[in-house]
Amino acid sequence: MSVLFVLLFSFAVAEARGPGLPNVMVLATGGTIAGTGSSSTTVVGYTAATVGIETLLNAVPELKTVANVKGEQVFQIASENMNNDYWLKLAKRVNALLAQDDVDGIVITHGTDTIEETSYFLDLVVKSKKPVVIVGAMRPSTAISADGPINLYNAVILAGSDEAIGKGVLVALNDQINAARDVTKNNTSTADTFRTPELGFLGYMQGNKPYFYRQSTRRHTADSEFDVSNLDALPQVDIVYGYANMNRVAIDAFVAAGAKGIVHAGVGDGSLARPAVEPALDEARKKGVVIVRSSRVGNGIVARNGEAKDDEHDFVVSDTLNPQKARILLMLALTKTTDTKEIQRMFYTY
Ligand code: SIN
Repeated sequence: MSVLFVLLFSFAVAEARGPGLPNVMVLATGGTIAGTGSSSTTVVGYTAATVGIETLLNAVPELKTVANVKGEQVFQIASENMNNDYWLKLAKRVNALLAQDDVDGIVITHGTDTIEETSYFLDLVVKSKKPVVIVGAMRPSTAISADGPINLYNAVILAGSDEAIGKGVLVALNDQINAARDVTKNNTSTADTFRTPELGFLGYMQGNKPYFYRQSTRRHTADSEFDVSNLDALPQVDIVYGYANMNRVAIDAFVAAGAKGIVHAGVGDGSLARPAVEPALDEARKKGVVIVRSSRVGNGIVARNGEAKDDEHDFVVSDTLNPQKARILLMLALTKTTDTKEIQRMFYTY
C-alpha cells in the first residue's frame, strides 16, 4: 500500500510543473484570430490568416505576466483549407515540443471553422499529458471588441496550468473550456459559438484561473494507441450527407476515387435511405471500404443494429461522434487495421 502511495505521489510530482512562470509555446496556424478587416466595424467579409505570430503576441503584452511565452508560425491558413498534410505537420511539431523539458504546455491559434477537427485529431495523436489548448477568435484582430486577445491570454494561462494536465486537448474560447472530442461550432458568427451540446463544457476561465467541473471519459493523448510519427499520409475517408430524396451518386463517386472509408451522416439515428443508399454502401463494403454510420443530428448515440442491421452489413457505428470527427477516428483506425470489429472497439473507446 505504501509503495503504491509513493509511486502515485512520484507520478503526480513528475506531471506537475516546477516553480516560477510556466513555459508556454504558442504555435500559430492562421484563422480569424490572425485576420484583418478593412475597418474596425468589419466583422464579416474580412481576410483570415494575415497577421503573423509576433504581432499576435505583441498585441497581448499581459502574456508576459502569466507565462514565459515563445511563438512559432507553423503555417498560415484560413482553416477551411485545413488538410491531412497540415495535421501531420502540426502533430509532429507538437509532439517534438512536448518532449522537451523546457516546454510546459502548448497553445495553438487556429481558425474556428475546423477547430473541432484539428483538436480531435491532436487529442488522438499527441503523446503527452502536458496541456495542449487550441484557441481562435470570431472577430478579426482589427475589430472593435476583438475576442482574440482575451482568448489568447486565457489559453496561455490554461496551457500553463496544472489543472489542464492530463485533460486531453482543450478548446478554449469565450471563457469556456471544452473537450476536443465533443466540442462543435454551433453558430456561424457569434462569439459564443463553441458548445459541447448536451454533454457540457468541462469548465470556465475566470479571474486568470481555470475551473474544471468534468472531464472526458474517453481515451486520449498519452493513452491513445494512434501514432503518426512515421506517417506521411492518411487513408482517404469521405463523408456522405443524408437527406430526403437522397441518391447514391456521391457514394459511388467516393468509392471510384479510392475511398478506404465512408462516413454516412445519416438522418435521425443514422438511418440509411432505402432503396437508394443501403445497397450502395453494401457494395462499397464488399469492395473493402469501411462504412461508419454517423448522424447529422448532432447529439446522441447512433445505436448499433438500430436503424440498420450493422452486424449483417458489417458496418461500424460512430457512437456519439459527429460525422467530421468520425472521419478523423476512422482515418486513424485505418492506419492500424481494416477489421471492423476492432474499428468498432475504437469507436467505443475514443
Ligand atoms: C477560419 O476558420 O480560418 C476562418 C473563420 C474563423 O477563424 O473564425
